[in-house]
Amino acid sequence: MPKRVYNFSPGPCTLPYEVLVETQSELVNYKDSGMSLVESSHRGRNYDAVHNETVGLVRELLEVPDEFAILFIQGGATLQFAMTALNLLAPTEKAGFLRSGHWANLAMKDARMYGNQYVAWNGAEENYFRLPSSDEVQVQPDTRYLHVTTNETIGGVRLYEWPDVGVPLVCDMSSDYFSRSIPWDLIDVAYGGAQKNLGPSGVALVIVRKSALDASPRELPTYLDYRVHLKSNSLFNTPAIFPIYVSGKVLKHYKRNGGVEEYRKVSITKSGHLYRAIDRSAGFYDCPIQGESRSRMNVVFRVPTDELQAKFLAEAEQEGFVNLKGHRSVGGMRASIYNSMPMEGAVQLADFMDHFRSSNS
Ligand SMILES: Cc1ncc(COP(=O)(O)O)c(C=O)c1O
Repeated sequence: MPKRVYNFSPGPCTLPYEVLVETQSELVNYKDSGMSLVESSHRGRNYDAVHNETVGLVRELLEVPDEFAILFIQGGATLQFAMTALNLLAPTEKAGFLRSGHWANLAMKDARMYGNQYVAWNGAEENYFRLPSSDEVQVQPDTRYLHVTTNETIGGVRLYEWPDVGVPLVCDMSSDYFSRSIPWDLIDVAYGGAQKNLGPSGVALVIVRKSALDASPRELPTYLDYRVHLKSNSLFNTPAIFPIYVSGKVLKHYKRNGGVEEYRKVSITKSGHLYRAIDRSAGFYDCPIQGESRSRMNVVFRVPTDELQAKFLAEAEQEGFVNLKGHRSVGGMRASIYNSMPMEGAVQLADFMDHFRSSNS
């Protein structure tokens, strides 16, 4: 086996080893075609089969009802910040936002250009250390939708209760797609970049309620119009072949391993190992995120000094635990433990944390 580290990167992140090996084995000569799939036409038989199989796996694993279209759109989750508003929000309408942290703030910044918006719950007042329960969300009359970020990748907070507030939800699920079930009856759009719980970067998975597109609020350039992608099965122009192809393999791997419900349970156990290492450290490790808001995908924590942090990161790297440095905007440490991080990675990191604490406190 080639050298592999435990890669705690927030994304792009670790992918299943067997998916990488299978991709490698097919890369030069796909199904005896004498060419790679990434050299093949997106209108050809081989890519067509992969594309439709991947769409089908998304539908099956996330139990997406027929009223929703499953789209693959380039531009990452970032383009969806604008596209959701462009496609759903008329200039005179308003959208509410859960202000949950870095990514929600960016979503608000782009949506602001296309309609009215307001903050339906403001996490900034509490340093973004938690997300609200449904009854704390204040939705104004005539709201078109409420935008929520189901997991703040940088802040390490997760939405533990889907707001059932009488308006449809538009959800950024970039960092917890495929690790929790989705209450489709509350939702108009769920979107996310591929590069955490799905596959390589280069595409966003966008799941949209078809009837939400019946009345388009404005004329749009071709690529920005969801209806164009819907009508063409995401094949209006050349799709992002490689990420969709590898995502299909990741989804087959998820299916073999028990599907989303199994990954949900695993995420609780995996993150539990790290949160217990924090909680039994008597304050050596500090995680400001409390209770149910603690992310199961991105575990954030600090050590008492900058010197200890540098030491922690250097020693962790020597042990093969890499990319544990927190985002530059918040500092500290962050262990991203998406679906493809093996349980053993979390267990061993928790052991390392215990050991580091007893040698340095
Ligand atoms: C929650 C969340 N939303 C949006 C993004 C932006 O995604 P992309 O890089 O695919 O545009 C990220 C990236 O990490 C994210 O974590």
